[in-house]
Amino acid sequence: MARDGAIYACQSCGGVQSKWSGQCPACGAWNTLVEEQTSARPPGALAPARSAKSRGAGLAFETLDVETPAPPRIITGVSEFDRVCGGGVVPGSALLLAGDPGVGKSTLLLQVAAHASLNGAKVAYVSGEEAIEQVRARAQRMGLAQATVQLAAETSLRLVVEGVKSGDFDLVVIDSIQTMWSDQLEAGPGSVTQVRAAAGELVRLAKKKRIAMILVGHVTKDGQIAGPRVVEHMVDAVLSFEGERGYPFRILRGAKNRFGATDEIGVFEMGDQGLREVANPSALFLNDTGERAAGAAVFAGLEGSRPVLVEFQALVAPSAYGTPRRAVVGWDTGRLAMVLAVLEARCGMSFGDRDVYLNVAGGLRISEPAADLAAAAALASSFVDRPLPQDCVVFGEVSLSGDVRPVSRMEGRQKEAAKLGFASALAPRLAADSATLAVHGVTRLSEAIDRIARGDW
Ligand code: TYD
Ligand code: MG
Repeated sequence: MARDGAIYACQSCGGVQSKWSGQCPACGAWNTLVEEQTSARPPGALAPARSAKSRGAGLAFETLDVETPAPPRIITGVSEFDRVCGGGVVPGSALLLAGDPGVGKSTLLLQVAAHASLNGAKVAYVSGEEAIEQVRARAQRMGLAQATVQLAAETSLRLVVEGVKSGDFDLVVIDSIQTMWSDQLEAGPGSVTQVRAAAGELVRLAKKKRIAMILVGHVTKDGQIAGPRVVEHMVDAVLSFEGERGYPFRILRGAKNRFGATDEIGVFEMGDQGLREVANPSALFLNDTGERAAGAAVFAGLEGSRPVLVEFQALVAPSAYGTPRRAVVGWDTGRLAMVLAVLEARCGMSFGDRDVYLNVAGGLRISEPAADLAAAAALASSFVDRPLPQDCVVFGEVSLSGDVRPVSRMEGRQKEAAKLGFASALAPRLAADSATLAVHGVTRLSEAIDRIARGDW
């Protein structure tokens, strides 16, 4: 039975229930419902409805056809970051930077804060995780000691809000939202209740004082610390910061953006002096040993508005045991199964007694269907043990019927390849009009496989 005045918030999905139960009815997680007091309205909840009369009187409707100026932007000077934000951060907006612990969120934002301050913005960096000395030492190691960032180490939401209010800042970084807590709430620090309250308060503050507010959110697999899920709908933009373990590359990706496109990526390389911006990711993701082996195919891909060349590497080998292995890194397992099935059904190749490994070099994750033909070419090249031409890139979508379909921005992909010294492309027939590369156009996957098997280029 629900006690009077009590509601129960799921610490996993943020759903609110009137009754406690062992399993959250909304997301199905176990033991995640925690009691909240309803005396204070839960942050983010709507204010009690005013009477219809006063609401009608206070609401002025407007039309769509009014010239609206583009929002002003603060250019931080970290150009990969600015581009993913849609051309700088917007005053009066809130942005969430989400990522695994240790991926480099604090490093990135310290750089962003420092560069923005060097560009003339008034910047505060509030760390709830590290002592001021730690942040300062890191900034010095990264060569940013002369930046005029105002540092604070604080976890009390009340003190942070008061400090930011009195500071007249343009840009404020809160690292991280999980460490901010309000003494007005009973829930423990890091709980959904606290995270939601802190985010709500900081977002309101950003709007009111026209501050560009950047919140850091850790994503953790176990449900103990509240993930930034609950914060996502409160902020104007969500960027995720990703990196494969063991690779220095970090990718900043837009997941939601009210002020820009979401398909942009920014590429960074983590070194001992912080993150270095990578303006030409193609050169980074390509295996530059010179010789291209059998089983390798260079995919001319697109990440957001930017063409990126990456190498697909396949190994097809007889399997020693009963069940053949399928392993894939950097691409979708389901997509690999589909391409293998099409190669078997439409091109007469048999993978039933072979192990198949597929790897996208450099730690990038590819999700474009345009990569189908590159994956198929790498697999076929390994299967017949014949390399593709050294100077050839591959792109095209493969359908279940074995057709090779055109993909978006074929000209842009080829231009990028030409820039990096490639001279030909294995591509959909429609791309053959291009002036930049010699195109081996195909309409069927079997044509492409024939060429690879015969070495006929
Ligand atoms: P950090 O920014 O603290 O990660 P997050 O805030 O996302 O938890 O970065 C942590 C990792 O980055 C740490 O393992 C050390 C590494 N790092 C470098 O390799 N070079 C550097 O210059 C810095 C500052 C960090
Ligand atoms: Mg950190």
